Amino acid sequence: MVVKINENYLLLQNSYLFAEIAKRVEKFQEENPNKDIIKMGIGDVTKPLSPTVIKAFKDAVDEMGDPNHFMGYGPEQGYAFLQEAIIKHDFNPLGIDLDIDEVFVSDGAKCDTGNIQEIFSNDCVVAITDPVYPVYVDTNVMAGRTGPINESGEDEGRYDGLVYLPCTEENDFVPELPKEDVDLIYLCFPNNPTGTTLNKDQLSKFVKYAQDNQAIILFDAAYEKFITEDDVPHSIYEIEGAKEVAIEFRSFSKTAGFTGTRCAYTVVPKELKAYDSEGNKQSINKLWNRRQTTKFNGVSYPVQRAAEATFSESGKKETEENIAYYMKNAEVIKNSLEKIGLKVYGGINSPYIWIKTPNNMDSWDFFDLLLNEANVVGTPGAGFGPSGEGYLRLTAFNTLENTKEAMKRLSKLSF
Ligand code: MLT
Repeated sequence: MVVKINENYLLLQNSYLFAEIAKRVEKFQEENPNKDIIKMGIGDVTKPLSPTVIKAFKDAVDEMGDPNHFMGYGPEQGYAFLQEAIIKHDFNPLGIDLDIDEVFVSDGAKCDTGNIQEIFSNDCVVAITDPVYPVYVDTNVMAGRTGPINESGEDEGRYDGLVYLPCTEENDFVPELPKEDVDLIYLCFPNNPTGTTLNKDQLSKFVKYAQDNQAIILFDAAYEKFITEDDVPHSIYEIEGAKEVAIEFRSFSKTAGFTGTRCAYTVVPKELKAYDSEGNKQSINKLWNRRQTTKFNGVSYPVQRAAEATFSESGKKETEENIAYYMKNAEVIKNSLEKIGLKVYGGINSPYIWIKTPNNMDSWDFFDLLLNEANVVGTPGAGFGPSGEGYLRLTAFNTLENTKEAMKRLSKLSF
């Protein structure tokens, strides 16, 4: 007898996109130790946790060392103080009511958007926008919901069995509704990687599709705090009836600097139902609760107190200042690149800027050019899916100084 592996893993691309980029950048740095590389690739924040957050974090650590306040295992779904704060500050102002047991605190939207698929049948047909955050695709590949990736032909770069909804400049980055029947639709708006958004009308069409076709939308709203325009929904539950068809993912990572601290949450409304093989309606909330209580032991108490502090008056103010700082970077990037004649998208309601490569250059060639000639790291659009070919993503998460320096270097390149 030999031990057999989950062969679905063999269908995956060699390495996870951001791991591949890190490898290439490391190699470049080794070969060019004196070059000062500016990283605008992975969307990792540069601003430290804010003073209010740090105070709450430290106070909670002190409590953990106090025999009268020490906390052991917490609730797998998160402490009520954080769930309540989330509902009060992130949803009630939008006119959305949620029960506390509809909010599941976790250690990241990456984990939640990756794990959610396991409570659905392996027969489910999955639709993704293209380009897309690779976690949605890879986790469905691992689960066996796809065939192999096409290496050539008109479906090159697409996995068999997945439904792709292209988002390119041709359709203003607004995905069309699926033409075929699909069960699960991953949507991320403001979008990673394109930085573009859907307005209420456009999102309503997806909610209606889901209602009409008994589909479920997995709505990643990790970047909602970066929205600056009025008609852009912050939550899918702003659309009537969405609680019956959508799960929403949110994160403290990009908004409050928790990429290294880890805290996020997922909303699973109790109205949301799917079917077993006998046609009985089952509660998705119950299944996710069962999954989390089995496989997850909660986010640490100090981290949850730190996350709660982002909702205090001073915490909110500091968080807003940090977001404004990144959005200023986004503006600098957008304006500088437009000045040198590049076509850029996003950056208005999102910290991502999606650049059309000049002269139809291929994404990875443009990535190499920026790395070699300007020592600036971006993320090649093709890494996010076949419709990302011909684009490159820059993030606004570096410092203002580095962002300006990167733009200075790019403006010296000739394309
Ligand atoms: C990105 O750069 O797309 C994100 O930082 C990745 C992530 O949030 O996991």
